[in-house]
Amino acid sequence: MVGGGGREHALCWALRKENPEADIYCAPGNPGTADLAANLPIAADDIDRIADAADMHGIDLTVVGPEMPLARGLGDRLRAEGRAVFGPSAAAAQIEASKAFSKDVMVAAGIPTAASRTFQELAPALAYVDRHPEPLVVKASGLAAGKGAVVCLTRAEAAAAVRAMLDDRVFGDAGAIVVIEAFLEGEEISILAVTDGTDVELLPVSQDHKRLLEGDSGPNTGGMGAYSPVAVATPALLDRARREVLYPALEELRRRRAPFAGVLYAGLMVDRQGTPWVVEFNCRLGDPETQVVLPLVAGGLTAAFWKVARGEGVAPIARRIGEASVTTVLASRGYPDRPEQGAAITMPAFPPPGVTFFHAGTSRGADGVLRVSGGRVLTVTAVAPSFAEAQRLSREASEAVEFEGKIFRRDIGWREAARQGAGAEVQAGAPLAS
Ligand code: AMP
Ligand code: GLY
Repeated sequence: MVGGGGREHALCWALRKENPEADIYCAPGNPGTADLAANLPIAADDIDRIADAADMHGIDLTVVGPEMPLARGLGDRLRAEGRAVFGPSAAAAQIEASKAFSKDVMVAAGIPTAASRTFQELAPALAYVDRHPEPLVVKASGLAAGKGAVVCLTRAEAAAAVRAMLDDRVFGDAGAIVVIEAFLEGEEISILAVTDGTDVELLPVSQDHKRLLEGDSGPNTGGMGAYSPVAVATPALLDRARREVLYPALEELRRRRAPFAGVLYAGLMVDRQGTPWVVEFNCRLGDPETQVVLPLVAGGLTAAFWKVARGEGVAPIARRIGEASVTTVLASRGYPDRPEQGAAITMPAFPPPGVTFFHAGTSRGADGVLRVSGGRVLTVTAVAPSFAEAQRLSREASEAVEFEGKIFRRDIGWREAARQGAGAEVQAGAPLAS
């Protein structure tokens, strides 16, 4: 397992459940994966050392969690050395690593997506902003840890975002190219498709909450919580998503000699007509989507990863029926810009029934104390027979974890709650916990 966040902890947890006897190594892992796997002190994007470690430990299957090592060619490198890898090539990972490329693929394949233009120069970008209706979305084309999209209500805000990216390089080289696009309205869902490049097997659909604050306000983050299943994702909608989004994207990538094998993540905005507009593609599982979706998998995950890694097609993944899952991200004050680090964490000795704590930005020092070491610190997943129960369990277990500067949203799943007529329970706009 390559990576060290909440997603990778959830992957180790799911793979360990299906493979009690396997030797699992995680690079670099975190204190959560340490209970399930042997952590290796190697950064996720240190391709040479990961290749060496795969050799030394005789790794049969490598599962790559984050986008950065994929975009830098970890999959290609290991495959060139004859190893099975679950994760796409660098060429296919461009679907996430370059929003300019991704938009180009979508337009060529006729996939519904917001009208957009790509710019490297300030003056034409500003002129484009001037000519287009508000709101506008300005995005750094490169990888920016989920923070590179700025939804701008006014042209003035959009112009400022363009300047910040192209002139001030607030996202470094990731913002050397910007994509400016029209604002899409609707309900956002995350589709995670396990694919061999042609066929797809969908994991349960989830809805992430990208904004920092309750009521979906504040800046974009990597994601503050998620729930699954989502009522919006009807069989008819998923059918459209396959036919209008996933199959055309995979076909276009094959045509460009960049076939995609791994998880293709489609972030969709579903409008009132039920049209699935693509907001973004990612080349990997989502975080925190993985933490909410994998606990709903009943079996077949390892087999599906193996088949794709060996180029043998896709395999069915079984899901738990009649259960809902909610995950709440506990972040550190200052996230996403400058999260505070170092606070000691206290957690319940035993999680309540149905609850799993996934570690993200935690570390354990020589003194054995668990401490905050990242922006998103823990993800608290609860699985229960109803959405409302899962939501309550996740929220209560989130309250029970303590560290100085803890922030989290208490309204994860508020749209689903409103649909289910339990809206009164969830107060949008309530202050953050601390
Ligand atoms: P991205 O980095 O492209 O995933 O964008 C991050 C988040 O910004 C998305 O998950 C959406 O919530 C929001 N967003 C991005 N593009 C658009 C758009 N064209 N219209 C509305 N919201 C958007
Ligand atoms: N949660 C959004 C992402 O993983 O990109």
